[in-house]
Amino acid sequence: MSSKSNLGKLQILDRKNAEAEQGGGKKRIESQHAKGKLTARERIELLLDESTFEEIGKFVMHRSKDFGLEKEYYLGDGVVTGYGTIAGRLVYVFAQDFTVFGGSLSETYAEKICKIMDMAMKNGAPLIGLNDSGGARIQEGVNSLAGYADIFYRNTLASGVIPQISAIMGPCAGGAVYSPALTDYIFMVENTSYMFVTGPNVVKTVTHEDVTSEELGGAITHATKSGVTHFVAANEVQCINDIKRLFSYIPSNCEDLPPFANYSSDGNEKRTRLANLLPENPNQPYDIRELIEELVDTDSFFEVHKNFAENIVVGFAHMGGRSIGIVGNQPSVLAGVLDIDASIKGARFVRFCDCFNIPLLVLEDVPGFLPGTDQEWNGIIMHGAKLLYAFCEATVPRITVITRKAYGGAYCVMNSKHIGADMNYAWTSAEIAVMGAAGAAEIIFRKEISEAEDPQAELQSKVDEYTEKFANPYKAAHRGYIDEVIKPEDTREKLLKAFKMLENKVDTLPRKKHGNIPL
Ligand code: HXC
Repeated sequence: MSSKSNLGKLQILDRKNAEAEQGGGKKRIESQHAKGKLTARERIELLLDESTFEEIGKFVMHRSKDFGLEKEYYLGDGVVTGYGTIAGRLVYVFAQDFTVFGGSLSETYAEKICKIMDMAMKNGAPLIGLNDSGGARIQEGVNSLAGYADIFYRNTLASGVIPQISAIMGPCAGGAVYSPALTDYIFMVENTSYMFVTGPNVVKTVTHEDVTSEELGGAITHATKSGVTHFVAANEVQCINDIKRLFSYIPSNCEDLPPFANYSSDGNEKRTRLANLLPENPNQPYDIRELIEELVDTDSFFEVHKNFAENIVVGFAHMGGRSIGIVGNQPSVLAGVLDIDASIKGARFVRFCDCFNIPLLVLEDVPGFLPGTDQEWNGIIMHGAKLLYAFCEATVPRITVITRKAYGGAYCVMNSKHIGADMNYAWTSAEIAVMGAAGAAEIIFRKEISEAEDPQAELQSKVDEYTEKFANPYKAAHRGYIDEVIKPEDTREKLLKAFKMLENKVDTLPRKKHGNIPL
């Protein structure tokens, strides 16, 4: 072969590469930028370590012959797929390219995604999907629907095997929402992303509600009302940085251990501020986040689901460099009570940590489950059971610290000794009882109080009696339900030692096909 014809072949390759990298063309790229959005390739570049992206399927084209598509082809067909690294660790990624047919999903586009999903599973590496799409490619009909279903199937098989992350960076509507919904974490960007099963026009026709896309399915809506998204970012750069941060806490697959963070200690792990963090009055609120920040490695707390069900706080942190998941009741919102949303939020987080070998720390200050018809009629029984179930079946190291209230069923649910916690600590301020002293005294001493000369004084004396007997950690400690009653300032030291002691824990569940979590 002459060097001239060889040069021609290299030029063809260069031309094709350049064409693929242009996606839907300059004008559509400009329009994407004008909306405040990055292109698929720009997003991948930001996400992965420099120059590590290796593309797969760059020249794939659709096979459609209908509605004029036979005359319109784009190399890559609207989705950029491949692999690279984040902080040196292998990840697989697909990025939907809105500049090509609005990022809509064709048969071949789905095949590209499925190919890297299969590779991610076989090689035990996380999958990240950057979504920005008008949904099913309308011209392809059922072939597109089949492509979606192929992806959903793989999302489900991969669940619990590799971490799957979805970032929504534009439209995500119709059945397309179900792939992100099947993944572990959803990230959304304020003002430029939305997710809904049916859009504002259909909503208007069916329910006569007037609602904008942003109100119906924007980032804030899903962060606060539905809980569909776990993270919200002000812009795409922050969103991508948040995804990278998440990876610093989680392993690459279910057989792997989470990465260790750098940690050096001066040997003093006492946290004296903890001694004064709780208010004098046990009915006064405090912010559990302040307590968490004091306990964990400096600035290592990474909150998940921050704006949803704020009466429970969940997130990742490092403890002596070790990755842990934290579930804490939040006394400053609804007194930290457990309700439907908090139970679901907590359960999902516990299950993620258990899937991926992340030890759990529970910080307990809970007055019980939220009463009322709203909660009962909407199924607090079933939803509360989710949290209970999630803790019961978790086999990762599990530690609980009761800081104050541990009342009623919520005591059992919040990682009690009885449902498999490994270490249970209580602060001297802990109150472990069936209910608060006032309520308890009113029920069990009703007759004495009503017949007393001074019912108010009698009530107070019975409240004091109940408080002395039960509103403390010692009854539970006498039974061994609490392993140690500790001073707040010693908590970090205790936890560092206990998590180290538990690092080789092996626990298994009874053999079964799979459990039947109350859904
Ligand atoms: C084919 C599509 C498309 C689609 C957009 N385009 N959506 N092509 N199939 N689903 C094309 C447009 O024709 C246009 O092409 C380009 O993408 C950009 O679209 P615009 O409308 O100009 O962009 P914008 O104004 O930003 O509006 C974006 C949009 C809108 C809101 C997503 O395009 C839209 O409503 N699209 C249809 C959405 C939809 O109904 N999808 C099907 C949902 S049902 P040109 O050539 O002009 O650049 C579904 C079922 C999945 O997805 C089921 C899974 C189980």
